[in-house]
Amino acid sequence: MTDNRKITSSSPQRVRLDVNHMMTDTMGMRYGIAPEQVEDYAKAAAAAHAAVQAARGTGWLGWTELPYNQKKIVEKVKKVAGHVREHFDTFVVLGIGGSALGPIAVQWALNHPYYNQLPKAKRGGPRLYVEDNIDPERMGALLDVIEVQSTCFCVVTKSGNTAETMSQYLIISDLLKQAVGQGWQRHVIAITDAERGNLAPLAKAEGFEAFVIPDGVGGRFSELCPVGLLPAAVCGIDIDGLLAGAAFMDAACKTDRVWENPALLMATLQYIAMEDMGFNVHVLLPYADRLRFMADWVCQLWAESLGKNVTRRGMAINVGQTPAKALGVTDQHSQLQLYTEGPYDKVVTFFKVEKFQAEQPIPNGCKAYPDVAFLGGKSHNALIEAERKGTEYALYRAGRLSQTIVLPEVNAHTIGQLIFLWEMCTAYTGELLDIDAFNQPGVEESKAAAYAVLGHPGEKYAAKRAEMKKAPAGSGKYVV
Ligand code: PA5
Repeated sequence: MTDNRKITSSSPQRVRLDVNHMMTDTMGMRYGIAPEQVEDYAKAAAAAHAAVQAARGTGWLGWTELPYNQKKIVEKVKKVAGHVREHFDTFVVLGIGGSALGPIAVQWALNHPYYNQLPKAKRGGPRLYVEDNIDPERMGALLDVIEVQSTCFCVVTKSGNTAETMSQYLIISDLLKQAVGQGWQRHVIAITDAERGNLAPLAKAEGFEAFVIPDGVGGRFSELCPVGLLPAAVCGIDIDGLLAGAAFMDAACKTDRVWENPALLMATLQYIAMEDMGFNVHVLLPYADRLRFMADWVCQLWAESLGKNVTRRGMAINVGQTPAKALGVTDQHSQLQLYTEGPYDKVVTFFKVEKFQAEQPIPNGCKAYPDVAFLGGKSHNALIEAERKGTEYALYRAGRLSQTIVLPEVNAHTIGQLIFLWEMCTAYTGELLDIDAFNQPGVEESKAAAYAVLGHPGEKYAAKRAEMKKAPAGSGKYVV
């Protein structure tokens, strides 16, 4: 467990942003971003910072205060998590998007890579499954590996209405009623908005244990509220460390000086990359298995927040970087060819871990084969960093921009920092683009259309059905 008191601004646990491979100093005038270009945006960046600071804790910026205003909630999270750890063998999160990606990312980052397969004594807590899809095979498959009678189901939905999650709830509550009978409600925890949607009144009516997703905390910004904290605490993760890490990064982002505030610098450089240079793809490339699902979490945050077609004043624009998730070194053998030689439309973000939790030495051997023998006496720790450096160099040689987020090690504190860094960076980038980074009208449209297809009785959906009938049906001649 991290001792949070020891973390200071000069702390060896500080997550750092290295932008050398974004800048002309390294990349040259043809490919890089000149410091003067950043200076040109320094005023806009300071204004973006001021706007975010002024709106803290209001509107959809409720998440900025999560590291500070949850004392009582954290106590309750720990109490409920303790109860779950004591009484259940399995904990299943039913949720999608922002209700699922954070819990998956944090669990993967901070627990044993084969957590669910460990014997209970080593795990300490229940097995964790995050059911974030409605593939018809999936629920049956889950039921093949869990015992409903010894499982706690955590239903998570900010809107309280999401069809994927609520359909899962219908299936599970039905099963629980059959398998557990009286008292089945003790197997359900609800995490939702205080008032909006159906889950809040349902939880009250059934008497479920419940947590509120605070006002101003949208799905993709909810990892540091009970949405993320409860599954983490259930699985024995240091949630105080997560919140302390977030607060620590918040403090590092308190200045409006672009060169000193990591989130603001990252936002400004990405703004220049996308708006001035047309780099509309952003590759998230962690060189650590533990961070592979942090890349997924960032993908959602970046895509859903910044992919917008109007400014806040209603002017038509189409902005956003398409995030692409990769894993070092695995995807060196899959995607890297494209990143070094394909279109000049990408920025790569490396995630580098300085100290892994294990040292894997490579024994000597194969003397007759020099290309293999040279690996002997080295370690996987050295090899993975050599390969990351090699990739950074290959991108540099090809004139491709990259930045590196350096984690001294992966622990609750550095993961808390990383989460807050990206959240702040996203908010700043939204300000620079003058868009609403906190809505998702494009997603809402697809939800309404799906409800219409499925015959939702509401008037709104009848109108949508009528509208959809007018869309071209398509022709069989184009189906081969
Ligand atoms: O960030 C968001 O708001 C979305 O990705 C939501 O998390 C996702 O659509 C699920 O919505 P809800 O939490 O309302 O079920």
